[in-house]
Amino acid sequence: MSEIELLPEEITEDDNTTHVEMNIKEIAFLKRFIMEYKPKKIVEIGISAGGNTVNLLKWKDKNAKLFSIDIAKEWYQDNAKLTGFMADELDVKDNWKLYRGFDYLDVYEEIGNDIDFIIIDTVHFMPGEFFSFIAALPQLKDGCIVVLHDIHLNILRVSNDEYNDYDIAAHCTGLLFGGVSSNQKWTLKLPISNIGAFVVDKSTRENIKDIFHILCSQWHMFPSELNLTKYLDFIYNNYPQDCFNLFNKCLNVQAKYFDIELNTKQCARVDIINSGNKNNIIQFLDNTNSINVDFPTWFKSDKGSGAVIETFEESFKLKFICINDGQLKICLRGPDVRDKEGKRVPVNIDYKLFRMNNQKIFEEDIIAWHDNPYIFEKNVKNGEIIELYFEWTLDKF
Ligand SMILES: C[S@@+](CC[C@H](N)C(=O)[O-])C[C@H]1O[C@@H](n2cnc3c(N)ncnc32)[C@H](O)[C@@H]1O
Repeated sequence: MSEIELLPEEITEDDNTTHVEMNIKEIAFLKRFIMEYKPKKIVEIGISAGGNTVNLLKWKDKNAKLFSIDIAKEWYQDNAKLTGFMADELDVKDNWKLYRGFDYLDVYEEIGNDIDFIIIDTVHFMPGEFFSFIAALPQLKDGCIVVLHDIHLNILRVSNDEYNDYDIAAHCTGLLFGGVSSNQKWTLKLPISNIGAFVVDKSTRENIKDIFHILCSQWHMFPSELNLTKYLDFIYNNYPQDCFNLFNKCLNVQAKYFDIELNTKQCARVDIINSGNKNNIIQFLDNTNSINVDFPTWFKSDKGSGAVIETFEESFKLKFICINDGQLKICLRGPDVRDKEGKRVPVNIDYKLFRMNNQKIFEEDIIAWHDNPYIFEKNVKNGEIIELYFEWTLDKF
């Protein structure tokens, strides 16, 4: 990696400095990249009042497309105004699309590939900018310039004697800038540059696991406003399996740390009941720790107690003994995932193989989700031992 320190430039009176959350040297840094690289497809994530959106609209080539995305509909500094209001007021807005109230993944498909310039300037607290970068990377062209702002907000505040406990944690963008792999990075030639840029190249993609490792460090906020199920699915489909595994584990640990009930489970779920009378039950034998077994109260009735089994293991065995004669019912389904309104959403599980006592029940793709299970039933005797074996994967489509 080579890092170039650019001399701070001045900007002209045509450039906008009102409601821009950058100082003039940083605005000039951004301008320099737009002027020099003349990108054709620009993305701006985190726009606030839209002060810099005004600049991007002025600087960009008339035919270049600009997509501006902000998760907040209203300006976070004054709720009476809309996010991006400064740019809304401009007369010339060629090839501009503003998404208020959206995260990047919500508009991913609309934006499409071949992005050659992106600026990410959002929350600065872990895991903030990591999510936006991971969401956008598959659509960034090789050679795309990525500008990150507030890369050292935490130490700038300290050095300005404006330190408080809260600011010291604003190091998310710095971790991303420092950790990302690129053959070319730029900063301002200043004792501490608070803006940086890098080029997306082969090494960025080849070493992407480094970014997932950093993402596993302590988070300072939990991004509940994002669709985390969508992120899991997206990472599963667009990044190597080991990156997905790290992300998945990390998300679950962070959720526990923040005491948040995570509704993103992408696991196999098998419900089993030995129906007969109220004492009917199954007792598990030899199960591994990676399999979670629960006997929830809602599954208890005068017909017996049922078990709910969940696991991330993509092949797993269950062994249990049936207590009392009964009708064994095995439901292969998906996890209980709900949207913000509490409505259940499908998470499809592709069950590929199901064996009982070494007998094949099926060996084909059977897609099931919570509300559309595959059901198998058979009569069982008191003391009968049952061994089940499953192979499954997430249904990607
Ligand atoms: C520091 S301000 C952006 C300043 C702006 N780039 C400028 O130069 O004037 C951060 C903005 O990021 C937005 N934001 C936070 N998380 C976001 C996310 N995941 N996606 C898009 N915008 C986000 C906030 O609503 C806020 O408007």
